Amino acid sequence: MNALNSIVRWQFNSFPKWNPREANKRLIATPPDSELIINSPLLNDMQFSNRDSKHLPRPPQALWFCRLAELCYFLANMTKRIGVLLSGRGSNFEALADSVAAGRIPDAEIAVVVSNRENARGIERARARGISAQVIPSKGLEREAYDRLVVAALQEKKVDLVCLAGYMRLVSPFFVSSFRERILNIHPSLLPAFPGLESQRQALEHGAKFTGCTVHFVDENLDAGPIVMQAVVPVEDADTPETLAERILREEHRIYSEAVRIVLEGRYRIENRRVQVAPLKKSESQ
Ligand code: GRF
Repeated sequence: MNALNSIVRWQFNSFPKWNPREANKRLIATPPDSELIINSPLLNDMQFSNRDSKHLPRPPQALWFCRLAELCYFLANMTKRIGVLLSGRGSNFEALADSVAAGRIPDAEIAVVVSNRENARGIERARARGISAQVIPSKGLEREAYDRLVVAALQEKKVDLVCLAGYMRLVSPFFVSSFRERILNIHPSLLPAFPGLESQRQALEHGAKFTGCTVHFVDENLDAGPIVMQAVVPVEDADTPETLAERILREEHRIYSEAVRIVLEGRYRIENRRVQVAPLKKSESQ
């Protein structure tokens, strides 16, 4: 976001100030039949026909419009940077990395993977893919003191979106406010049912017939932020926590990528906790 801000500032500062005398110098005679020729791909210069100039858009408006269009195009296509936090196996991280590589999450990259645990398998998996991976041990640190280190690592990598993927820590209000509405979590139940640990076991012990998984925004409360996407998984009589977890995990991998794409593309709005998602245009769905 810092990068984004500086680009926006640079773009706006670079708009030429309208000065009629200077503007006259910019009016270049062109062949009589040409009306408005934009002669540079970067839209830095324009040529106006003298003959019909009163019918043409005035230079300042035209220039503003072109610059604005250029800015929108640039911002829309800028690569978004994802930071992943994990503590263990890292299969959701792998699913996200696969989706980025396959273009299912377009114009994005995983900028960094951070773990609070040294031996997290997800860290090995990230390094094997050549993705920057850092272990920041949490032992002996207060929650916020630890989160300040993690936030600094994410900000240094200019992360736009933080994805918790099996991150076995509660994040502090400091963390949440540093990335407000830019932190997602994946949870293996249909929230608000069965929050916290061992959700698959909770679902079985409760006798639920259906469970599933949820991608939600992270707020100050445990597994409680607005829900972006859910998938339902039926519970079978013969299920154990492990077999159920395996089937849920397949859905997790699918919906996490979809939800990340929605959020990175800004294709949603939140109204009274409800996340309303705009569908993809036909040409964008794949
Ligand atoms: C997943 O079941 C996820 O829903 C939960 O922790 C597990 C992490 O698995 N938050 P993995 O490390 O992504 O394989």
